[in-house]
Amino acid sequence: MKIAVMPGDGVGKEVIPQGLRVLKAAARKFGFTYDTTDYPFGAEHYLETGITLPDAALKELAAHDAILFGAVGADPRGNARIPQGLIETDILLTMRFELDQYINLRPTRLLPGVPTPLKNVGPDDIDMVIVRENTEGLYCQNGGFLYKNTPHEVANQIEVTTRHGVERAIRFAFEYARIFNRKKVSLVAKTNVLRFAHNLWLRAFEEVKKEYPAIETDYHHVDACTMYMVTKPKIYDVIVTTNMFGDIITDLGAAIQGGMGMAASGNINPTRQTASMFEPVHGSAPDIAGKNFANPIATFFSVAMMLDFLNQGDAAAAINQACKDVVADPKNHTRDLGGTASTTQVGDAVCAKLA
Ligand code: NAD
Ligand code: IPM
Ligand code: MN
Repeated sequence: MKIAVMPGDGVGKEVIPQGLRVLKAAARKFGFTYDTTDYPFGAEHYLETGITLPDAALKELAAHDAILFGAVGADPRGNARIPQGLIETDILLTMRFELDQYINLRPTRLLPGVPTPLKNVGPDDIDMVIVRENTEGLYCQNGGFLYKNTPHEVANQIEVTTRHGVERAIRFAFEYARIFNRKKVSLVAKTNVLRFAHNLWLRAFEEVKKEYPAIETDYHHVDACTMYMVTKPKIYDVIVTTNMFGDIITDLGAAIQGGMGMAASGNINPTRQTASMFEPVHGSAPDIAGKNFANPIATFFSVAMMLDFLNQGDAAAAINQACKDVVADPKNHTRDLGGTASTTQVGDAVCAKLA
């Protein structure tokens, strides 16, 4: 297997090395082999070289079997030397779009022993999979300014919604439910206001669901969904939603599953014609970077998702189980979970469990 590795910035540089240790431990145990290619791209690399993601590198990335990605980006309050959003767009969004990783699969589940900010809620109550459309919507960078820097300035940011793009995301959600025996698929959108784009979503959903009569369906407006994710998360099983809403509700999902350090994701091109990319949901976390504080569990779950995708299901299951066992013991909790364990200590614990 050919795996491209891009740690990126901030805590990405701390959690990815631990992810590679876990990958190595799994390979030793399950007897598979792989090669890695390292890529240096990120905000820091841009500041040194002026380069974000060269076309030649993108071509190389596409030809790998998978990409293991950390996080890119500078401080969210801005960095005067980096145009706003340049790094995220040129690197992360370019990979998602150009490699046609049209599904962003974000499992959201609370594990035993992991603290959640919700009251009276346990692991049985939070177990959902959010299918985020990943190549359309408000993320297309379709827009512009008119009369910039005048009192008449106009800014347009156009939400791109195609029948093809919406239907393949919805169908993926139903197929996922069918294969993994999930009972319900909920569409989350905003049909009451976005009466064109989300009307298309609703019509596509109504049509595709007819092909899956055994699967229950539901619809919520996104504002209500954020409330239900907090007040009754148990109602969600599989959610399918737009790129922007998926971004927002998966950070909320991360919060209720114990924080950003617990949330994994796969940017998947189900056709397998180009590489899929696996990454923790979190960003470069400049507030805690460089301290060996970051929780690497989200990265380990992302490594497991990657191995599942690469037909190494036993290794994936073993990593998932090792992570579950490790987080069940508070002595392995990093600061975000209320503990004092370091990033490397959690890596040690998961590798030891795997061995
Ligand atoms: P963030 O996810 O980096 O951090 C949000 C909060 O979660 C912070 O308090 C941080 O300390 C905490 N956190 C994140 N990861 C953690 C971990 N592994 N363990 C413990 N705590 C963790 O989001 P942000 O601060 O809004 O963004 C920082 C930068 O990262 C920005 O430049 C943003 O654009 C970028 N970003 C990149 C990605 C990505 O590359 N996939 C994702 C999100 C944000
Ligand atoms: C995520 C991130 C990205 C997104 C940013 C960094 C472009 O927040 O992966 O959730 O908005 O998709
Ligand atoms: Mn996000």
